[in-house]
Amino acid sequence: MKIPVLDLKLQYQQLKTEIDSAIALVLESTQFVLGPEVQKLEQEIATYLGVKHAIGVNSGTDALIIALRALNIGQGDEVITTSFSFYASAESISLVGAKPVFADVDADSFNINPESIKEKITPQTKAIMPVHLYGQPAKMAEIKAIAQEYGLKIVEDCAQAFGAKYYGDCLGCEQKCSQETRKNITNQYVGSIGDIGAFSFYPTKNLGAYGDGGMIVTNQDDIAELAKMLRVHGAKKNYHNEMLGYNSRLDSLQATILRVKLKYINQWNEARKKVAQTYNQLLANNPIIIAPKFSQGHVFHQYTIRVTNGKRDELKEYLASQEIGSMIYYPIPQDQLPVYKEQYKPNSMTMKLASEVLSLPIYPELSETQIKEVATTIIGWTKN
Ligand SMILES: Cc1ncc(COP(=O)(O)O)c(C=O)c1O
Repeated sequence: MKIPVLDLKLQYQQLKTEIDSAIALVLESTQFVLGPEVQKLEQEIATYLGVKHAIGVNSGTDALIIALRALNIGQGDEVITTSFSFYASAESISLVGAKPVFADVDADSFNINPESIKEKITPQTKAIMPVHLYGQPAKMAEIKAIAQEYGLKIVEDCAQAFGAKYYGDCLGCEQKCSQETRKNITNQYVGSIGDIGAFSFYPTKNLGAYGDGGMIVTNQDDIAELAKMLRVHGAKKNYHNEMLGYNSRLDSLQATILRVKLKYINQWNEARKKVAQTYNQLLANNPIIIAPKFSQGHVFHQYTIRVTNGKRDELKEYLASQEIGSMIYYPIPQDQLPVYKEQYKPNSMTMKLASEVLSLPIYPELSETQIKEVATTIIGWTKN
């Protein structure tokens, strides 16, 4: 592929000396699971995000499962999430024994629609799980206001949004939250706004490890304590297991790699934003392509356009023929996957977006020439 959708080699080449020596130190130390490197990463991430506790786990999926368990969510409970996300969001809810309830999304932001959340609340609803899809913060002030009104918890799925900040500039804002709620959470990183946040360090993420990894963050001591126990088989002290938990320990090699990369995350997220702005300028005013709208704190894990002529798959194939990578996140909404399909009616906006979205190459090292080539190829295709 001339322009792949993602190129992780470029980043490794830039950081090779730093990363290789950090890895060598862990190998010498023979402390491979949890240990000092994980503790340091947890402290650094807690400081970065402005939260009291950060707890390293095995993956973003485990972070969601443990977050839900730490909030005591299980059998008989309902959790409202978006139908337009990666399967792990709903899967984690089902795996703790609760029922996922799927709200629709807004066309502008691809994120959960607060009005749709309200329509789905029942006496069994225990929590809302917004997903900051593609790196764009969800409408957190409105979501927080709903959670407060109905006494619900908020579990933020931040798998795609490390470093994304909520600035109170929600797309299509209809001023439905109170000024006060918005003011209180403005300038906060996603993950620090709800009761608990879950991050993924899967290699392709903005802050990616060289294997699986995840992190749970919270400001609440009791939740943090429970999450820490759950990641090590439900024990505070070795061999004194008190509940059913998991083996979900973050390993030191991933932690040391993430510690090197954390120093560059702001710079990389800024570079992603520039890529997105350039694409937006080049793709503006096209009758077929809708370029993404974005709030200030978006970190562009993905740059996702909408192809509105019903020929999205053809464009994808055409780009591939020109050696340009692209991806569809996600072709099938969560609630229409085999596990859920029989039980749920599809949400209309989610279905529409699933048939229109196409994510284009984006990574901090993508050059202006490459961005122009992608955009020109797309524009050329729309004219034929
Ligand atoms: C929105 C969302 N939630 C959860 C996850 C799960 O993270 P992981 O792959 O680290 O388990 C992902 C991963 O792609 C994701 O995109």
